[in-house]
This record gives sequence, C-alpha cells and structure tokens, in this order.
Amino acid sequence: MDSDNRTGVDLDAGFARAQFPPAENGIAFLENAGGTYVPRQVIDRVGHYMSRVQVQPAYGFPASIEATDLIADGVAIAAAFLNAEPDEVLVGPSTTVNVLVLAQAARPLLAPGDEIVVTNQDHEANSTPWRRLAQEGVTVREWAIDPATAELDLDDLRTLVGPRTRLVVMPHCSNVVGSFNDVATAAAIAHEAGALIAVDGVAYAPHRLPDVKALDVDFYYFSLYKTFGPHVGAAYVRRSVARRLAPQNHYFLTEPPKSLNPGGPSHEFTAALNGIADYFGVLDDHHFALPANGLRARMERLYALFAAHEDALGRRLLAGLAVLPGVRLIGRKAMDGKRAPTFAFTVDGRPSAEIAEALWDRGIAVGLGDFYARRCVEALGLDTVVRASLAHYNDEDDVDRFLDALRRAIA
Ligand SMILES: Cc1ncc(COP(=O)(O)O)c(C=O)c1O
Repeated sequence: MDSDNRTGVDLDAGFARAQFPPAENGIAFLENAGGTYVPRQVIDRVGHYMSRVQVQPAYGFPASIEATDLIADGVAIAAAFLNAEPDEVLVGPSTTVNVLVLAQAARPLLAPGDEIVVTNQDHEANSTPWRRLAQEGVTVREWAIDPATAELDLDDLRTLVGPRTRLVVMPHCSNVVGSFNDVATAAAIAHEAGALIAVDGVAYAPHRLPDVKALDVDFYYFSLYKTFGPHVGAAYVRRSVARRLAPQNHYFLTEPPKSLNPGGPSHEFTAALNGIADYFGVLDDHHFALPANGLRARMERLYALFAAHEDALGRRLLAGLAVLPGVRLIGRKAMDGKRAPTFAFTVDGRPSAEIAEALWDRGIAVGLGDFYARRCVEALGLDTVVRASLAHYNDEDDVDRFLDALRRAIA
C-alpha cells in the first residue's frame, strides 16, 4: 500500500509509453480504469499464437507442445500478479464470469439461515452473484459506505459479522471511490468469526501488486485487461476452500482449478499474458542494472516505480481540480498512500454527460456513467459521474490537457 519508491529510480514514463502503440493516437487517455492499453509485446504474443501455434494443446506434436507451454506460462504470470501458485489460479473470460462461477460453486458451503456480508461499494460483478445466494435462504447483510466519505468503515463490518456469517465479500479498491480498503484487517475479522472472505482486486491490481498470502484471503480476482494484458480475468481460490466447492465443469473434471473453470480460458489471450512479462522485462532492463530475482520480484520493483509516478501525477491532478469551481471529487482528496489515481467527480449544476462530452470533444478520454458500481453511486445521491483514471504510462501533459479542457468546459 505504501507508495514510497525505495529503489531510488524514477519511472521513465516516456520509455514505458513508447511500448504502447495505442498511445500514439494523440488523445489524452484517462479511461484506464475501464481497461488499459496493451504494450506491443502483448500484441506480438497474440499475433504469434494465432499465426504460428493455434492448435489444440495437450498433444505431443510440436505446435501443440508449444501451445501447452505458452498457456501454462500465461497462467503462471496471472499467478505472479497475485503471489499465488499457478494451480491456485484460474484464468477465465472476465471477472464478471469468474465471480458468477465461484458464487455458484460456493452454494454447498451455505445453508438456509447462514449469513453473508456484501458491500454497496463494489462493482456489481462482485455483488449480484453473491446477493443471489438469498435464493437459497441465505441472509444477505449489507456493509454500506459512509455517504460523507464514500468509504467502508471496518467498525461497521465488526457489527455485521456474527456466528452465522459464512462469507464477507468486498472490493480491495472501488472503481469509483478509489480508496484502498484494508483487506488484511477485514480478512482477520472474517476468519475470527469462522467466515471466508472474497475480494475484488480489479481496481487495485493496475496500481499496487496484490499479495493473496499476505492478505490471507480465500478468493481474490482481477482482470488482466486492466493490467496491460488481453481481455481475460484471473481468480485465486485458497486450496483448502477450492476442494470444498461444487465443480462447475464436466463431471469428470473434478480437480480445481479446472473444476471451477467451465470452458477453460481463451488460449490465445492466456498465451499472450507472456507479453506482459516480456514488457516488464524490457522495462526492468531499462531501469535497473542488476536482474531481479524472478518475475514477482521484478514486478514488485516496477510497481514501486509505477506507484511513485502515479502518485506524483495524482497530486498534480488533485491540485488542479481543487482550484476549479464546483468540482466535487468522490473519495480522498490527497494521494496519501491510500488511494488509486482514479478520480470520479461531478460539477455543480452541470450534467456529467455535458462535461464528459466537452472533454471528449477536446481529445480527452474520460469515462462517464456509474461504471456498474451503481449501488455506490446511488448511495452518494448521484446517477452518473465523470471519471479520469491514470496508468503508469500517463504523463504530466495528459494531466495538464485534462485540467485545461475541464477548466474550459466549466467556464
Ligand atoms: C472494480 C471492478 N470489478 C469488477 C469489474 C468487472 O470486471 P470484468 O470486466 O473483467 O468482468 C470491473 C470492470 O470494470 C471493475 O472495475
């Protein structure tokens, strides 16, 4: 969570950006929370797989052997993002689909009268599938944000958890509010009560590296198309929990993670996850003289650079927003080590659509809507918000263009 960059090295954002072909399009791309650009290394991997390897894996002829290896290596890269072992991770079409499958698989763990805790801060992907367990007679208790801060209070969780609680469901970071939730403490509260914890890390993983072991969580998921990869999602399930879940695949596929991954992953996109590791390798070589001790260590030191760079850009953006009249920012007003550079806001007296359109017209790519965090946005008394969200390849010019365009839109 700490964004201190202890490596003594600053991110060369220009070098990073040069790896992303879409970044040459001239727009200030500030819709990274919707999905990041992909580097050329990922694009090349998709092309390589589809043009040279696209055969069924698991056979003994050369192309099939390569397909098997590339897919396995891709899953290992998704696992490295989580600090998990590959056999604890499934790669599926998206987080929405992965959570639907996992919630279905969790039904045998719950009996009528049992309780689960869900939030109103989550993206709906981490809400509907769990709330539907009410159809089995499970009592759903809502952990609600404080409308004044848009944040979740752990003391509220403590009052919601009791002897019948079987599961706590929460986001590591909201895609609208941007605050980092204290998942480790929530996990301790859940486990103390004998409950499991399921965490959505989709909005966290582009900015800080998750660590499912340090957090001590039971389920954790994120989407690789928001961490510079192709459109797939990954989910971790603790081994001891995975064994207790109902298989969701063919009757003879009973071993997790395969039993929890009906249809399996997209082969070309799972193979292309290797391109993220290629990209991190290029970036690491550019910034550090000595090699890191493995992929996870490389990711950790690169993410330290990302965090420091994003925090600096975030401070610049927040300082600019603070002097614009009528701008209401959702969430924390400072880059205090407890927020992502995801800034949702409204402008007093102006429809969000009008503001977004004015920004789009000036070549600034921002998001507009509730971003499927509808319960959260409604709890704040809003229906649509504008969202500007950064990634490590953004630069000061992107931020300044956004602030200038917003100032003109408001004027
Ligand atoms: C916080 C959060 N959770 C879950 C999702 C859903 O992820 P996916 O698009 O992979 O289904 C999103 C997508 O925007 C999100 O921002």
